[in-house]
Amino acid sequence: MRNNYIEMMEKRRSIYALGNTIEHTEKALQETIMAAVKHSPSAFNSQTSRVVILFNEHHPKLWDIVEEKLRAIVPAEHFTSTEEKLASFRAGFASILFFEDQNIVKQLQDQFSLYAEQFPTWSEQATGIAQHSVWTALAQEGIGASLQHYNPLIDQAVRDEWQLPDAWKLTAQMPFGSIEVAPGEKEFMADEDRFKVFH
Ligand SMILES: Cc1cc2nc3c(=O)[nH]c(=O)nc-3n(C[C@H](O)[C@H](O)[C@H](O)COP(=O)(O)O)c2cc1C
Repeated sequence: MRNNYIEMMEKRRSIYALGNTIEHTEKALQETIMAAVKHSPSAFNSQTSRVVILFNEHHPKLWDIVEEKLRAIVPAEHFTSTEEKLASFRAGFASILFFEDQNIVKQLQDQFSLYAEQFPTWSEQATGIAQHSVWTALAQEGIGASLQHYNPLIDQAVRDEWQLPDAWKLTAQMPFGSIEVAPGEKEFMADEDRFKVFH
């Protein structure tokens, strides 16, 4: 049985060839991103996910930070490919930063000691769900995005640049923009190796 939701999920892909030709207003994009995060579930409805949206000059600033941090650790002879990759993110329209509020995780651990060990895992799961929701919602608008992980390398610089709380732990970066090159076919493993169904 296929339904609209499955079709929406199929539309979401990792888009690396981004442009900045976006017809949506920043307000409309912001509302969509916020709604996708708000309607994503979290353990105990703890709403641990935090999101920062970087438009205009804030967007290239993020990729400048990543470039500066990587330059310090990537050997110069390999840096051209790194620079090209970062340029492809910078070519997008904006970026989204995903965080998890560790203060909430700690509060939950204190409050519900029985589940203390589980809360960090559930927080990671919550951020993944929020990321997927946002990514899929943007895809419905014809907007391409990818998921990047330059944390924890950039954590402190990001916190400093946008004056973010220490307790916000960076979990992912999502550059987005117009889709300049459609993604290739995706390969799937055999269903029989993946699913067991008992009737
Ligand atoms: C938890 C997670 C981490 C990922 N990390 C990265 C990443 O750091 N860089 C990247 O380019 N893609 C990353 N991806 C994207 C995957 O490579 C991609 O989703 C996968 O190959 C399937 O392709 P699709 O997104 O086009 O469906 C990540 C995806 C997930 C779910």
